[in-house]
Formats: sequence, C-alpha cells, structure tokens
Amino acid sequence: MAGDFSDLTRLLQSRPRPVLASGEHRAIVGCGYVGSALIQQWRARGHAISATTRRASRLADLEARVDQAVLFDSESESNDLSFIEDIDVLVISLAPTGQQQVDLEAYRSVFSRGIERLCRAISERRSSTPLQLIQLSSCGLYGDRGGAITTEQSTLDLSHPINALLAGAEERLQALRDEHIRICTLRLGGIYGPGREIPEWLLAAAGQRVERDGDHTPCWVHVDDVVQAIDLAAERQLNGVLNVVDDLALTKRAITDRLCEATGCAPVWWAGSPRHDRVLDASVSNAYAKGLGLMLHHPSMIDWYLSTRDAGEAQRPRSIS
Ligand SMILES: NC(=O)c1ccc[n+]([C@@H]2O[C@H](COP(=O)([O-])OP(=O)(O)OC[C@H]3O[C@@H](n4cnc5c(N)ncnc54)[C@H](OP(=O)(O)O)[C@@H]3O)[C@@H](O)[C@H]2O)c1
Repeated sequence: MAGDFSDLTRLLQSRPRPVLASGEHRAIVGCGYVGSALIQQWRARGHAISATTRRASRLADLEARVDQAVLFDSESESNDLSFIEDIDVLVISLAPTGQQQVDLEAYRSVFSRGIERLCRAISERRSSTPLQLIQLSSCGLYGDRGGAITTEQSTLDLSHPINALLAGAEERLQALRDEHIRICTLRLGGIYGPGREIPEWLLAAAGQRVERDGDHTPCWVHVDDVVQAIDLAAERQLNGVLNVVDDLALTKRAITDRLCEATGCAPVWWAGSPRHDRVLDASVSNAYAKGLGLMLHHPSMIDWYLSTRDAGEAQRPRSIS
C-alpha cells in the first residue's frame, strides 16, 4: 500500500530549501516573463532562488516555484530586501508591467524610485562575499541612429524621457561597482518566445494601415537567449555592457513583408510614425556577446516563428474526408 506522504511534503515545502553544494543563492528582482524562464534553468542547476513580484496575488504561485518569494513594490517604504545580504547573483528584471499606453510615471516609479531603493539595499549590505549584479536594460536606449551599425560603445539617444530614465537606472547601478560588486548590463532587444509571439502580433496587421514607421530597424531576442546571456554573465562574472539581440537586423517593413509572404497574407501598410514617438532605428551588433561565448539558439525571429508554426500545424489532427 502506498504511504501518505502529504504531511511530510507540506512540512518540507514550508521549510527553506538548502543550497546544494554546487549551487549558489541567486535572486531575481522583478520575476515576470524572463524571470520565470530563468527560474526553471536555475532550479535544474541546484541554485537556491529568491524572487520578487509586486502583486500579492502572484505570491502563492511564485512560492511554489522558488525558495523564497518576496513582495517588492517600488513605491513601498516597507519592502523586505534582507535576502540581498547573502546572495551571490542578483538579476534586476523590473519593467512597468501590463501598460497598454506608455505611462511615464510608471517608468519613473520602476526605473528611478525602484532602482534607488535597490541600490540603497545593495550598498547597505554588510557581507563582503562577491556579488554579481545583472541588470536587464534595453537597446531602445540607442534610439534613432538611422539604421547604423550600433555597438555597446555607440552613443545613447536620451532625447525621449523614457530613454533618459533607463540610462539613469544603468548609471545608478554601474556606480555600485567596487572590489566586491561586479555589474553587467544586458541591453536587450524586444523579447519574444512562447506566449509572446511578436510575429503573430505583426501578422495581425496584415492588409491593414498601421500608423507607425515601417522603415526603422528594431531588434529582437528570444527569451531562451536572454536566459543564456544571463547565465553567461553569472558564470563568467562579467563586468560591463553587452548587447543581447538576435541576428535579424531588418526593418519592420521587411519583417512583415517576409512574414506575410510566407503565410500568404496581404502586406502590412506602414503609414509613418506620429511625431514624438520613441524610436529605435539601429542595426544593433551582437558581436561582443558572441565573442564572449553567446551562441544564439534562435538567430532569427522569423525562422523561429515559421518553424514553431509549422510544427504546430503538423501536430494538429487532420480531419478524415
Ligand atoms: N519585454 C521586452 O520586450 C523588453 C525589451 C528590452 C528590455 N526588457 C527588460 O527585460 C527585463 C525583463 O522583462 P520582462 O518582459 O520579463 O518583464 P515583465 O514580464 O513585465 O516583468 C516585470 C517585473 O517587474 C515587476 N514590477 C512591475 N512594476 C513594478 C513596481 N512598480 N515595483 C516593483 N516591481 C514591479 C513585475 O511585477 P509583477 O510580478 O507583479 O508583475 C514583474 O515581476 C526588464 O528589466 C525589462 O525592462 C524587456
């Protein structure tokens, strides 16, 4: 007869899990889409994980997946950030979640007040064990470079207030660097992957007029490659800035033309940007990250989408005529 281990299981789940001999204590501040993918990888490697959410309603779900789930709200005076004291790696993955419209105040809350609270907690750390910080930032910071090749050394476009906030957050975190603290800033392209099928969103505009500029070159990265880049920064203890984007480097028009052709849809009619729109028009180079060992699982958002779509169609049951 099988024994009933439910009490024992509940007891074990209520206790903090020990760190495996091979594992570290790692934390994710702002555990959303990327953070959730990172948890899976880190758990498999035996790391103990602390992770934050802003919503009390997400706490139970997070508790089931990490060793310590913590509420962190950039506006709250009573955040408990004591986990920062003994961590080895801290990933800062905050973003104003679920914004339909750009709300500058939400960006200010996260990237100014939120980052400031974190920086204070990090500088008050008494431990002198080495800390690897990994900040997830954005290639959006490069702004309008007329599609030019853009490396980590290229100038940032701070004309838009969101870019100024993002650059301020990068600077504030970089200033924490000392003999115990290394900081690696990953500038990411637009993140796609399961549940974030950006090509599908673009295809939804097939045959329609879109009040946006189609001749700008944005950049993209698959969530698996973001996770890989974070791991690279943690394992290699990187201390600098890295662009993390796929190889696509095409204008939006070229992307939708290819997608529409491959799926038999009418092309999207890109009608031009409203003035003051935040623009990214840069052919962002990932050469530095590749030189450090990043091997993209998904070099092209288009190929990724078309292959997952074909695989989905192959699995769909065929009707018998
Ligand atoms: N998404 C992109 O295309 C993109 C592009 C370039 C760079 N990035 C950067 O990549 C990182 C990961 O992005 P993601 O898509 O995984 O983000 P996400 O899914 O939106 O998750 C953001 C996290 O930040 C938390 N958060 C939101 N507002 C907060 C506040 N006021 N105070 C404290 N926490 C708050 C959210 O809390 P809840 O758990 O309560 O939702 C969530 O855990 C972010 O740093 C983002 O800036 C993203």
